[in-house]
Formats: sequence, C-alpha cells, structure tokens
Amino acid sequence: MNYLILSRLNESYSTRRLVQEIQARNHHPLVESPEGFTLHTMVDLVIPRLGSFRYHESMKELRAFSEKFPQIPILNSPKAFHQARHKKMALEILKGLPQPKIYRTAPDFPVVIKDCLASQGQGVFLCHTQAELELCLSKLPDRNLLFQEFIQECSGHDVRAFVVGAKVVGAIERFSADPKQEFRSNLSLGGHARNTQLTDQEKQFVLSAVQRLELDYAGVDFLRSKRGALLLEVNPSPGFEGLEKCTGLNIAGEIISHSEVLFQNSQKNIFFES
Ligand SMILES: Nc1ncnc2c1ncn2[C@@H]1O[C@H](COP(=O)(O)OP(=O)(O)OP(=O)(O)O)[C@@H](O)[C@H]1O
Ligand SMILES: [Mg+2]
Repeated sequence: MNYLILSRLNESYSTRRLVQEIQARNHHPLVESPEGFTLHTMVDLVIPRLGSFRYHESMKELRAFSEKFPQIPILNSPKAFHQARHKKMALEILKGLPQPKIYRTAPDFPVVIKDCLASQGQGVFLCHTQAELELCLSKLPDRNLLFQEFIQECSGHDVRAFVVGAKVVGAIERFSADPKQEFRSNLSLGGHARNTQLTDQEKQFVLSAVQRLELDYAGVDFLRSKRGALLLEVNPSPGFEGLEKCTGLNIAGEIISHSEVLFQNSQKNIFFES
C-alpha cells in the first residue's frame, strides 16, 4: 500500500512512528504538508495529521482530495475530523454523554474559556472573576469560544484514552507539573503521565463518543470527577508519544493495522460496486 501522511511536522514523534510502522509492514509512506500537496491517484490511504496552524486551509484541501478521489479511504474522514476538532460542534453532537456544563449566557465563576479550534492547551483559559473574563475576551477577538464549567476537583489532572477502531488500546492519567498553578494537564505544557486502566463504564463512554463522531481512531480526554466521567474533547489527530513511552504499547502499530483493514474493506466495496 501507498500511504499519504499529511503532516507539517514530519519530524514529530507521532509522524515518525507512523512511518516506521508503515515501513515495518512493507508499505510505502509518503509524508507531505497538508497544504499544496499533490493530488495523485497512486495513494491507497490518507492519514491527516492536522494541527491548529492554518487548520482551515488544510481542511479545505483535504475535502477537495476526498471529493476528487472518493474511493481512497481517509483515516478520519474530513467530516468526522472537523466535527471532532471543533470543540463546540463535537460537544453538541455528543449531547447526552456526561460533560461539564456549557454556558450560553452569563457563566458561573470560575469558568473555563476555550478556543474551539485550538489544541495542546494553548487556547484554554481559567477566569475567576468578571474582570478576568473581560480581560481574557479582549485578548481573543474573532475566536469561536466555548464557556465551560470548571471542574474544581480535577484541576491539573485528566485522562487521555486512545481508541483505534472499536477498541480502547491504551490510556494514561495526566498531571500538570503544579496543579495549584496550572489547571491544564497537557503533556505539551509540562504535565506528566501515568498508565491507567479504564473501568468498563469508562470504556463504553469513550467508545460511544468516538463512534458518534464517526472517527476511525482518536484521543479522548475526560475528567474523573465526583459526578463520574465527564467528557472534555475528542482529538482526531492525537499525539501518542506520552502514551507509548509511558505504557510501552505500540500505538502507531495499532493505527496502521486498523488502516489495513479499512483499505481491504474499501477494496471490497469497489469490487462489489463495479
Ligand atoms: N472544564 C474543565 N474543568 C477542569 N479542567 C479542565 C476543563 N477543561 C479543560 N481542563 C484541563 O485543561 C486541559 C486542556 O483542555 P482541553 O483538552 O479541552 O484542550 P486542548 O487544548 O484541546 O487539549 P488537546 O491538546 O488535548 O487538544 C485538559 O487536559 C484538562 O486538564
Ligand atoms: Mg485536550
């Protein structure tokens, strides 16, 4: 198979690991920027690894590719990718699954403000007063924002579960370096990880979130609160360095094995349609 990985960071841990596992299975990896990549038919399967930088431009090209080559499977289709990446859109679709309250009008304090398309904790802020909120908003003009209940007891601590297909392949707890100072537990912000096992209820919870968003694989962030598991977000292009290093699991291998199944199924469909 010829794989096309769309990534601006071809030296990133996750992209390098995907390339390794593709080569280990005697397939052919091609890594190209998600913007300005050549639309060629030699590709058998596409893996979009889109970050926040120029996200709209990248998504526009991915949609164009998918429309031009509908027979070529994309691991996390443009539709599934976008509805997951956009925090407000995702939480709307996942209504009914336990999640922190979303404020549509005047929030209770403390409140968490999120840029709907940001990631790595970069677009997530905590405001304790109206004054802090106004200052924060003044720094975020023209952003699509989400106002979310702050789950105090989970400050600086959350869970990242990794789903491939219909299986939870691994999970870590994440802890911010100093929960008193930093409520975000992103590893990219200096947090650290510890291997964790999910309860059967938590497994059902994260699997239904991924299935409802029609994703092939994803990183699901949730809080273990006094009210039980509360969903934060579902990442359609999740990093897995922390998870692999913390658990020794071969997450990249799980992703590529699943993509081989998707490709075989797509071939069957083409065969039966012809
Ligand atoms: N409502 C909340 N209550 C308490 N802590 C929260 C809340 N929302 C977010 N956090 C903390 O902030 C971190 C970042 O938030 P979130 O996962 O929503 O944003 P992100 O920037 O998209 O992260 P990612 O890099 O996973 O895409 C979470 O991992 C969690 O530790
Ligand atoms: Mg997150």
